[in-house]
Amino acid sequence: MGAPGVGKGTQAKLLTEKLELPHISSGDLFRTNHREGTPLGLEIQRYMIEGLLVPENITISIVMEAVLSTRAKRGFILDGFPRTITQAEALDKALAEQKQSVNCTLNIEVPTDQLIKRLAGRLLCSTCQATYNTETQPPLRDKLCDLCNDPLYQRDDDSTAAVETRFQVYSNDSRPLLEYYGSQGKLINVDGTGTLIEVHQDLLRAIQSC
Ligand code: AP5
Ligand code: MG
Repeated sequence: MGAPGVGKGTQAKLLTEKLELPHISSGDLFRTNHREGTPLGLEIQRYMIEGLLVPENITISIVMEAVLSTRAKRGFILDGFPRTITQAEALDKALAEQKQSVNCTLNIEVPTDQLIKRLAGRLLCSTCQATYNTETQPPLRDKLCDLCNDPLYQRDDDSTAAVETRFQVYSNDSRPLLEYYGSQGKLINVDGTGTLIEVHQDLLRAIQSC
């Protein structure tokens, strides 16, 4: 968990490689739906482009389908979901039916001024979705992916107006989840201001302590 740009996607990919657990990102699922050009994908994009939450019924059904289809006995890493108390309750209910539960919630913290800079400099690969940053993680060749040599692009919702809305939405709808998981003793806060590797090591230590 964490505000836009804290490094959820970047760190989830590193954890996925290290722990060999599936990575389920609600934002990535929605972007895939949009790329496929389905009517649902177009509806989702209307919300995303403005930085608003996708409606609960759409979000819960898409993410739960991904969660249940992984059938991962050792678990999985969720990134960007749950984002509201309603989603957290839906997740708890679906996991309980599988005799599973959330065992650890990692909340990455970075001051907002740094997040605004990170989002302004973020670049993504149009093919493999690898993430770069013009300041902190530049590609080897200008605007080309190191892994597949395909063009890099900026996310539509990294515009100034959408970023402002995303921060407001995070504050209003997602911050209450810190209390939800904190009161269950399942929340660990991690400083996200270090290098990618420093944050990764801190997250691994946090997971081991769960
Ligand atoms: P989503 O895609 O989840 O966006 P987000 O939460 O706003 O988070 P980001 O993906 O922007 O940031 P991140 O934390 O993953 O950071 P990253 O690793 O890329 O959601 C997008 C939209 O989909 C939402 O606005 C909403 O519309 C919809 N949606 C998604 N989930 C939903 C849900 N559950 N319910 C309803 N709607 C939902 O890193 C950012 C940049 O920083 C990169 O350039 C990276 O290289 C750099 N960076 C990372 N770590 C470091 C570091 N340690 N030091 C320096 N730079 C770093
Ligand atoms: Mg992300």
